[in-house]
Amino acid sequence: VTLMNDTLQVLDNRRSLRGYDSRPISNEHKEQILHGMFRAPTAGNMMHYSVIEVTDQKMKDKLVITCDNQPFIAKAPLVLLFLADLQRWYNFFEYSGVPEVCKGRGLDYVTPQESDLLLACCDALIAAQNAVIAAESLGIGSCYIGDIMENIETHREMFGLPRWVLPIALLCFGYPLREDRDDREKTPRFPPRFVYFKDKYSSVDNREFETMLMSHYGQPRSFFDGAQNIGQSIYLRKTGSAFSAEMRRSVKAALKDWSE
Ligand SMILES: Cc1cc2nc3c(=O)[nH]c(=O)nc-3n(C[C@H](O)[C@H](O)[C@H](O)COP(=O)(O)O)c2cc1C
Repeated sequence: VTLMNDTLQVLDNRRSLRGYDSRPISNEHKEQILHGMFRAPTAGNMMHYSVIEVTDQKMKDKLVITCDNQPFIAKAPLVLLFLADLQRWYNFFEYSGVPEVCKGRGLDYVTPQESDLLLACCDALIAAQNAVIAAESLGIGSCYIGDIMENIETHREMFGLPRWVLPIALLCFGYPLREDRDDREKTPRFPPRFVYFKDKYSSVDNREFETMLMSHYGQPRSFFDGAQNIGQSIYLRKTGSAFSAEMRRSVKAALKDWSE
C-alpha cells in the first residue's frame, strides 16, 4: 500500500501488547488518550457507554482470575473497563418524568431491549478503539480482554454495576518493555477476498478454505489436543473451550437481566 501518512502507519504497525514496562502512563499521555477516546463517534451523540479506570491493584489481581487467568492484566499500568450503559439515560428519563408523559399520551414506556444493548456496545467499542489508536500513536501498546464478559455476577459486584450497565471490553495499556518494538512480526489476516465483498455476501467455497487458512496460520506443526486439522484444533482450543462456555453462560444471564 502506498500513500502512507502517520495515521495509516499507526494502523499498520499496531499489534496487541501483553508485556508492559512498569512505569506509569504519564498524566499528559493519559489525558491525550482519554481526549481521543471521548471524540469517538457515538449513536445519536448520546454516549451510551461509561468507562471505569481500574486503579486498585487488588482489583487488577482479581481480574486476572475472573478473566480466564491472564496474569499480564495485573501488570498493566492503565486498565480501562468499557461498559455499555443505558442506565444513565434511563435514570435521566425517570427524573424527567418520561414515564408519566408516556402514560398521559397512552404510549408504552419502553425500557432497554436487545437493540439498545447492541447500539450501546457499538458506542463502547468504538470509544475503546479510539483509545487504542490514540495510545498507539503515543508509543503505548494495548490489549483487549474479551473475557471480561465472563463472570457477570462477580464483575457486577466488583464494579457496582446497575442493571442496564454491562461490561463489553477491558483494555490493558502500557509502554512496551523494549524501546524498539518495530521488529515484532505483524499478525496475519485473511486475504481481503474472503472477508470483503461487493454488494452481496459471499460464503467461502469449501475448496478455498485451505488457501484461506494457509495464509493465516501457515502449515501448523501440531494441532491442539489431538485434533487432526486447523478447524478441529481451533474449535477445541477456542470456540468449544471452557472459557467460551463460561462466556456463553455469563452473557445469557446478563441478557436475561437486561431485557426482562
Ligand atoms: C474483542 C477482543 C477480545 C480479545 N480478548 C483477548 C484476551 O482476552 N486476551 C488476549 O491476550 N488477547 C485478546 N485479544 C487480542 C487478540 O488476540 C488480537 O487482537 C489478535 O490475536 C490479533 O493480534 P494483533 O492485535 O496483535 O494484530 C482480543 C481482541 C479483541 C478484538
